[in-house]
Amino acid sequence: MRLAGKSAVVTGAASGIGRETARRFAEEGAAVVCADRDAAGAAAVSSEIAARGGTAIAVDADIASAGDVARLVDEALRARARVDVLVNNAGVTILGGVAELSEADWQREIDINLSGAWRVSKAFWPHMAEAGGGAILSTASIAGVVAARQDAAYVASKAGLIMLTRCMALDGAPHGIRANCICPGFVDTPMFDGFLAEQPDPAHALARAAGRTPLGRIGTPRDIADGFVYLASDDARWITGTALVIDGGLTAGLTE
Ligand SMILES: NC(=O)c1ccc[n+]([C@@H]2O[C@H](COP(=O)([O-])OP(=O)(O)OC[C@H]3O[C@@H](n4cnc5c(N)ncnc54)[C@H](O)[C@@H]3O)[C@@H](O)[C@H]2O)c1
Repeated sequence: MRLAGKSAVVTGAASGIGRETARRFAEEGAAVVCADRDAAGAAAVSSEIAARGGTAIAVDADIASAGDVARLVDEALRARARVDVLVNNAGVTILGGVAELSEADWQREIDINLSGAWRVSKAFWPHMAEAGGGAILSTASIAGVVAARQDAAYVASKAGLIMLTRCMALDGAPHGIRANCICPGFVDTPMFDGFLAEQPDPAHALARAAGRTPLGRIGTPRDIADGFVYLASDDARWITGTALVIDGGLTAGLTE
């Protein structure tokens, strides 16, 4: 087991990539704190992990709330005494072009996807540093590497998250804190379903997403979770400041 003895916090653990990451971490021997603003969803994942013989607790926390984040730290440290791995995965997508986005939608997207990751990382930082280090991982996106039409706030939030990751790598290195992020391509989750539902022809949009991906399919949450297992493990001991693209080749280059 690659994460035996480690204690991990996963935000956005109630659904999609976060849920699968929590499950895979537990399978690899980590004790997991499943954090989400969806309290029932987080509790369900935590119960599922426990039913399979793993160790998990659920914490109802909105990463946009400083009070919730402080409580998340308290509850995580009360349960496990230390946190070795933090996965900043919670995120939302609010579609809209530069000229169409409202001030409120822009602020909300940045506040959750970018500021939320900073807020949670800052809150766990002194505890990780005091314990001799740890791994701070984040779910960015290929949207942080290549821009997309009608998605300005999301793209800006994910580009910012990649640079925040690099800043955390530099600031964290003296404390033994490694910071890395994953940039997924299209992944089959409720968020992606929501994106498809907003398209004029969802079935066509799904076929197009798979067709544009050189490896011929969209990703599964497991494709991403396995990347997080690696980055959280001691196999990644000399990796920090990286943005690992896991996208089936989507951003490797032009195909036509
Ligand atoms: N699905 C994709 O194609 C894709 C691609 C690239 C990146 N991502 C990123 O992956 C991450 C996970 O997305 P997913 O596809 O699994 O989506 P999802 O909607 O299935 O899951 C997101 C989870 O985050 C939680 N969440 C949202 N805002 C929160 C908040 N303020 N506080 C606490 N929890 C909150 C939700 O309740 C939900 O459980 C996101 O950061 C997303 O931007 C997804």
